[in-house]
Amino acid sequence: MGSFRRTYNFAAGPATLPQEVLERARAGLADWQDLGYSLLEAPFTGDEFKALMETTQQQIRTALALPDHYHVLFLQGGASAQFSLIPLNLLPPTATAGYVETGHWSTRAFEEGQRYGPAQVIASSRDSGFDRIPPVSQWALSEHLHYCHITPNETANGVQFQSDPDCGSVPLIADMTSEFLSRPIDIKRYGMIYAGAQKNLGPTGLVIVIVREDLLGGARPETPTVFNYQLQIAQQSRINTPLMFAVYLTHLMLVWLEEQGGLKTVQAHNISQSQSVYRLIDEDDFFHCPVIPEHRSVMNVCFSIRATQLTQRFLAEASARGLVNLAGHSQAGGLRASLYNAQPDDAVSALTSFMNDFRRRYG
Ligand SMILES: Cc1ncc(COP(=O)(O)O)c(C=O)c1O
Repeated sequence: MGSFRRTYNFAAGPATLPQEVLERARAGLADWQDLGYSLLEAPFTGDEFKALMETTQQQIRTALALPDHYHVLFLQGGASAQFSLIPLNLLPPTATAGYVETGHWSTRAFEEGQRYGPAQVIASSRDSGFDRIPPVSQWALSEHLHYCHITPNETANGVQFQSDPDCGSVPLIADMTSEFLSRPIDIKRYGMIYAGAQKNLGPTGLVIVIVREDLLGGARPETPTVFNYQLQIAQQSRINTPLMFAVYLTHLMLVWLEEQGGLKTVQAHNISQSQSVYRLIDEDDFFHCPVIPEHRSVMNVCFSIRATQLTQRFLAEASARGLVNLAGHSQAGGLRASLYNAQPDDAVSALTSFMNDFRRRYG
């Protein structure tokens, strides 16, 4: 199969996937593991699919250096479903959950979390327009919090934690949807992490949940069986038909990640790509990044043109050059270039070269 790419895609997710992964997935679609039928036609109870799930789980364990007391689950409903499923599984009805509000997605998690108990915002950067991460020293962490929820990378606002925070004895839960497997993490800082797969792993709908053993055991009776962490752990995420194709693509993405050199290598690569765009933005006053330099996202570069009337022209001209999906999130506006693991260097050079040219012509 020759290159089918006619565009450089900067979408925030679903997002660019490596061409070689798509080609491998195509082969599995036609005839999976020489079974003579497609993966889409394979029984989820068959040995082949069970082995695929086991391998994929092991790949995640290896990539993140997960100790045995963390469980890995493949669930459905995307990351948003977890906003409700976390309290249903982990929060007694009268206990308080703490939320750090740093942008659109942490706000969504908090709003949903409030439906299940006395949720509390324990730190927020709302007043400064979500332009930074509030320092841990200023979070209202207290022993009475059952857990503390964070969104380490805010996809819509382009703000990212620069390290894994230490919350002491309060279990930390992180929505890593838009930074999952883009950098090594210090897993012992977390009680639970979860991530929708449609950024660095590919397929929508699948959410990977990694949860520490000691947090389990208190699911509310009304928790749906298929979303009960403990019951799904006991059944290897196969209480009902799993998202088979999504798990398969995740497996292929993890193979590809390993071929790239693993998390440290992709992290360095991701930082270098985002820096080249931020450098250009900071060169003068034509473009503007609202996030303070220390907390800018490596994954989602959010920016604007100060002369806002030029935004639509920028998008139209970019698109004519094959640079697509650069509009900012609907709530945040402006522009956004998403640079997940699979974004090729050529795409970033084409973008910076276009931005330079646009600035020269309209600046
Ligand atoms: C950080 C973050 N959390 C949650 C979500 C919601 O994911 P889903 O659409 O899979 O529910 C997104 C989607 O972009 C996201 O970026």
